[in-house]
Amino acid sequence: MARYEDVNWRDSMRIRYDYTNMMADVVGENRGATEDQLDEMEGRLMAALDVLRMRRGPKDLAWMDLPYQKESVAEILAYAREVEGVYDDVLVLGIGGSALGVTALKTALLPFYSDYLSPEERRRPRLWVLDNVDPDWVMAALRLLDPERTLVIVTSKSGSTTETMAQFLIARDWLEARLGEGAACHLVAITDPEKGPLREIATREGYRSFAIPEGVGGRFSVLSPVGLVPAALVGIDLEELLAGAAYADELAWVRALRRNVPGMAAALQHLAYHRGQRISVLMPYSQRLRDVADWWRQLWAESLGKKMNLMGRRVHVGPTPVLALGTTDQHSQIQLYVEGPADKVISFVAVERFGDEAPIPQARPDEEGIAYLGGHSLAELINAEREATAIALAQAGRPNATYIVPEVNPFTVGQFLYMMEIQTALSGLFYAVNAYDQPGVEAGKIATYALLGRPGYEAQAVELRTAEAARPRRIV
Ligand code: PA5
Repeated sequence: MARYEDVNWRDSMRIRYDYTNMMADVVGENRGATEDQLDEMEGRLMAALDVLRMRRGPKDLAWMDLPYQKESVAEILAYAREVEGVYDDVLVLGIGGSALGVTALKTALLPFYSDYLSPEERRRPRLWVLDNVDPDWVMAALRLLDPERTLVIVTSKSGSTTETMAQFLIARDWLEARLGEGAACHLVAITDPEKGPLREIATREGYRSFAIPEGVGGRFSVLSPVGLVPAALVGIDLEELLAGAAYADELAWVRALRRNVPGMAAALQHLAYHRGQRISVLMPYSQRLRDVADWWRQLWAESLGKKMNLMGRRVHVGPTPVLALGTTDQHSQIQLYVEGPADKVISFVAVERFGDEAPIPQARPDEEGIAYLGGHSLAELINAEREATAIALAQAGRPNATYIVPEVNPFTVGQFLYMMEIQTALSGLFYAVNAYDQPGVEAGKIATYALLGRPGYEAQAVELRTAEAARPRRIV
């Protein structure tokens, strides 16, 4: 029996949410929420849950059912077994929602620094995620890799994103220069089941491909083949990851605000936004969860930052998500958070048990200034610093909350990812915006197509160049 099948183990891995320091009786009347406000939000949460339940399904919010994609998981695991031992490196080409989730899974769930080990020692391929078109960065990666031992995964829901498709052309050339026709076996496409240039190319050239289901947008795709294919290839336990997501799904439907983590967090963030606390910081005190916070940053920004609301009114709404890392950013950001403008909500992520405790040895007798550290551990220190920061913020009237993660493993990571997706979906309903489109991103994509001369975008190109020419340059 897998450990996640044991109800007691599952419950011991439940992520909790401490919102004490979000309340007005702790941080002050104008800075925190009141119980009355929470009572009011409870009704809104019930209505939002009803909407999600109604829209859930393959035609609309298909991401909600990703934890249960048994066939797709079986196909991915079969492919991972088929290519086991064939590749030393897996290179993912993708951007935004097609990349951030993969990096989050890698940092959270693979042993630290294992990429520095030899192939025999690490017994899995290294995982690279190229989510930028900085030419130095891309070419340096290709120079390090051996095409014969590299699998290139091209991930794009639309199949046409400029950055990803430019990288694809370079990587395909790079593979073909060494492998000729054999290059096709080193390419995997993860894209729309039917549409888009990448789907057409994959079909024509015979690449192995996986489908991102309809109704699963980029930033909600980490639990689809987008995240699962690379994760399976490097040995992450998909079943436990998805069991964690399914557990978060089960918990999300509790019809009581004060017992519903994503509901309560979304409600408190929403109240804070309307009090003028419009910056939302996610600060894990865990190196492993740093890139999960980076993934969340995009999820929150693209889903909630909108010009129009669902009623067609221009609202320009959306909390600004910020990523910080404890304890590193205590020496960079915390001064601002404690004493700067009172416009932020800080959400910590605490890890109760680390893989290593890292006991701190006693200092020498003449080392008085650091003697207090001896006998403690780094695990104790990182959590003491988080608690101290939360107290300092609360005393300064700065609202803050803490997600408590019992330990970092595939189950809790799957749970956290899904919980944050639900929280974002609920927030979208509280702000009354469409959390699943990104017209602002599309505008940038179209301008890039026009500037690079993509057929069909000639009119936009003329418009852009004319506007550009009319604007006086001011460069010093
Ligand atoms: O969340 C989103 O939809 C975006 O961030 C996309 O993932 C990103 O723009 C990349 O798009 P695509 O997967 O179509 O290449």
